[in-house]
Amino acid sequence: SQRRAHRAAILHTVADPREVGIEACYQYFEDGLLVVEDGKVVQLGDAEELLPALGGDVEVVTHGDALITPGFIDTHIHYPQVGIIGSYGEQLLEWLETYTFPGEAQFEDIDHARAQANLFIKELLRNGTTTALVFGSVHKQSVDAFFEQALELNLRMIAGKVLMDRNAPDYLRDTPESGYADSRELIERWHGKGRLHYAVTPRFAPTSTPEQLAAAGKLFNEYPDLYMHTHLSENKAEIEWVKELFPERDGYLDVYDHHGLIGARSVFAHGVHLCDSECARLGESGSAVAFCPTSNLFLGSGLLDLEKLEGHGVRVGLGTDVGAGTSFSQLQSLNEAYKVLQLQGQKLDPFKALYLATLGSARALYLDDKIGNLQPGKDADFVVLDYCATPLLEHRTGRADSLREKLFALMILGDDRAVKETFAAGESLHRR
Ligand code: GUN
Ligand code: FE
Repeated sequence: SQRRAHRAAILHTVADPREVGIEACYQYFEDGLLVVEDGKVVQLGDAEELLPALGGDVEVVTHGDALITPGFIDTHIHYPQVGIIGSYGEQLLEWLETYTFPGEAQFEDIDHARAQANLFIKELLRNGTTTALVFGSVHKQSVDAFFEQALELNLRMIAGKVLMDRNAPDYLRDTPESGYADSRELIERWHGKGRLHYAVTPRFAPTSTPEQLAAAGKLFNEYPDLYMHTHLSENKAEIEWVKELFPERDGYLDVYDHHGLIGARSVFAHGVHLCDSECARLGESGSAVAFCPTSNLFLGSGLLDLEKLEGHGVRVGLGTDVGAGTSFSQLQSLNEAYKVLQLQGQKLDPFKALYLATLGSARALYLDDKIGNLQPGKDADFVVLDYCATPLLEHRTGRADSLREKLFALMILGDDRAVKETFAAGESLHRR
């Protein structure tokens, strides 16, 4: 298809700052050019250098005083929870009973699911998120509704039907057999179609019997490149409950480990209260943790110790966890992540923050050969950020004298308003 070039300041990360240091982890082109064709990046560099050889038929789009970065990646979010975001007053277990389960019950209705999926995807794109790892509801049609629309827009998305066969209202329960069969059907229909991937999705240990977890483990290993997506060690009462329900297991992570649910492409949301041996097991097994700061603060769950997890070699991505999380914006996740780490005497460098929201999350999902930065060959999923989106951002970035300071202002003061345009597979899907 038509080759197109985008001209603006361009910033992306190219390596883990823990491995190469902050200064070598990113590339910045003050007057950059991003050349895109057939949904992929074909060239990235300085505009002055690349333009003469570009060829006269290539359309050049100039984005003005803006910053192009890779699209944001959300490593943990629930699409059936858009309608209950900002529900007052409870911590995890009561919040699930009071708000979440009744809200998810409505997804039995495919028309409701389609309308919510539409709203959800639009909201992701408005916030510059181009890939997400998504919980559906227990109903298989909820996943159909989501994937239909993600395919139509040619998005790279990962999702799955919730498995939940106990400790939930009966209208939201499946069985080990039906959960397995429904998941298989969805895998056959969607996994590998376009840019879609399937995730085997047991909600969390308390809502599955050992039989269901065993079936999930079996399924996870039956198809290549499937994901496993669940919750882990989010809340103190939850952890105690898991110990009561699984007295024969050696802690929360061991419940999943025992059933073959950890390893590459296993993503555990939260991991706020993990001990050293659990962190070590996650690290050596290649599993990932989704850091969800807005959710962990909103539900009062606790503070994630990023240094500890990374010290054990755990792949850490960034998640919003909407609807326990309070914003779709990964800029807002970074704002809260910065404060969560401040409370523990840890720093979040702005370039490290960008890495977390893009390439680091791509690594957590084992998709860093496809997304996460703008190297030639990668999917052309990118956003155009506006330093002047609000009077305050314009004022603050206008007096910033380094890229680091401007980037930090974007992550502290920015949200969906800072996302001027969102591109996926080279196509503009949202424009302010
Ligand atoms: N643990 C089990 N289910 C959920 C959920 O829907 N949201 C969060 N934040 N934690 C969970
Ligand atoms: Fe969650």
